[in-house]
Amino acid sequence: MIDRPKTPRASRVVMTQSVLPGDGNPLGTAFGGRIAQWIDIAGAIACQRHCRRRVVTASMDDLHFLLPIKVGMIVELRAQVNAAFRTSMEAGVRIESESPLTGERAHVCTAYLTFVAQDESGRAVEVPALQMEDDEDRRRAHDAGERRALRLARARIRKERLLSEQKERKG
Ligand SMILES: CC(C)(COP(=O)(O)OP(=O)(O)OC[C@H]1O[C@@H](n2cnc3c(N)ncnc32)[C@H](O)[C@@H]1OP(=O)(O)O)[C@@H](O)C(=O)NCCC(=O)NCCS
Repeated sequence: MIDRPKTPRASRVVMTQSVLPGDGNPLGTAFGGRIAQWIDIAGAIACQRHCRRRVVTASMDDLHFLLPIKVGMIVELRAQVNAAFRTSMEAGVRIESESPLTGERAHVCTAYLTFVAQDESGRAVEVPALQMEDDEDRRRAHDAGERRALRLARARIRKERLLSEQKERKG
C-alpha cells in the first residue's frame, strides 16, 4: 500500500560535516569524491524520509564545484525531495561551506540525484505523491520534471551504446 502524500518539508535533511585532513587532497582542499559521498547520503536520507523504503541511487546529475573547500572548513548539506514520480524521486542537495572562525558562508554546489524505492526483494515500488505547500515547492517540482526528461533521454542513449558495444564484442 502506498503511503499518503507527503510534503517536501517532511523530507528535509541538514547534514553538517567538518572537512578533516583525511577528506582532503594534496592541495589542502576537499576531495570531490568525498563531497559526492556526502551528497549521496544526504539525498538518500531525504528520499527515505519521503518513501520509508530502501532506496538506490539511479543517477547523479553533473556536479559542478564552483569554489574549493579548504580542509578545516565546515560543510553544510541541505537536501529535500523536489519531485516524486512513480517509483523514483529527485532529491536536490545544496552544499555550502562555512568558515568555523568567521562564519562566512559560500554556495559551493547544487546537486540533483534520482533514487529508486525498492521492496525487500529489490523490486521498484511506487512512492507517495509529493504534496506542494507553496510556489517554491511547485517551481522545484516543475524544474525537476524538466531535468528528468533530459536525464532519461541521456540515460537511454548511454544504455543503447552500451548494449551495442556488448553485441559487437560478442561478435
Ligand atoms: C536504478 C535502477 C533500479 C533502474 O532499474 P531499471 O530496471 O532500469 O528501472 P525501471 O525501468 O524499472 O525504472 C525504475 C525507475 O528508475 C528510473 N530510472 C531508471 N534509470 C534512471 C536513470 N539513469 N536516471 C534516473 N532515473 C532512472 C525510471 O525512470 C523509473 O522511475 P519512475 O518509476 O519514477 O518512472 C537500476 O538501474 C539499478 O539497480 N542500478 C544500480 C543502482 C545502484 O546500485 N546504485 C548505487 C551506485 S552503484
